[in-house]
Amino acid sequence: MMFLVIAASLFAVSQAQVFGGLGCPTTNTVANFNLTRYLGTWYEIYKFKANFENNQKCIQANYQLKADGHIRVNNTGISISDGMPSTAIGDIYIPDVNDGSKLKVKFASAAPYGNYWVLDTDYEHYTLIYSCTSILGISHFEFGWILARTRTIPDATTQKLFGIMENFHINSHHFMKTDQTGC
Ligand SMILES: *[C@@H]1O[C@H](CO)[C@@H](O)[C@H](O)[C@H]1NC(C)=O
Ligand SMILES: *[C@@H]1O[C@H](CO)[C@@H](O)[C@H](O)[C@H]1NC(C)=O
Repeated sequence: MMFLVIAASLFAVSQAQVFGGLGCPTTNTVANFNLTRYLGTWYEIYKFKANFENNQKCIQANYQLKADGHIRVNNTGISISDGMPSTAIGDIYIPDVNDGSKLKVKFASAAPYGNYWVLDTDYEHYTLIYSCTSILGISHFEFGWILARTRTIPDATTQKLFGIMENFHINSHHFMKTDQTGC
């Protein structure tokens, strides 16, 4: 039951889940993560494939520090089918300041927080995010995103980030490009 609640809420957040065998892979995240430098606007370049058709384009997220130290994230996108804009407001925080690149995120107030691990970022151009939730160590569901400060990034950057994922035994073929044209 709890699993269904978590799965449903994460599904609503990202609309991009991939299930896999066994538990979560072991990953490293960014050392000395600087939240201040991470704030601001990020454009979605890639995300893990949805189980159904991806129906949003021009997806972007704006991260702002709140008075309580949490981050307010404003995710916006445009429906490919009818051109209508949509917005989702989420909350991000860092549970352990000594492990600052392992963030938690949630969008619906009733939803539990999901993992948001920053595997790599240079703050000024790209960020590689991974989220994995183990299901009793026998299976897992996972999400990945590549965000950037601009609507396009060089292929060399993409290849580098795919390579980082593969080194952690995460299948980069799950990535699907987000349409950032005609925004
Ligand atoms: C984080 O980045 C900000 C903005 O560049 C800088 O002022 C601050 O010193 C950095 N913090 C740490 C702990 O390096
Ligand atoms: C979210 O961001 C969009 C695009 O920048 C902006 O138009 C909208 O007002 C923001 N929504 C909220 C609730 O902050």
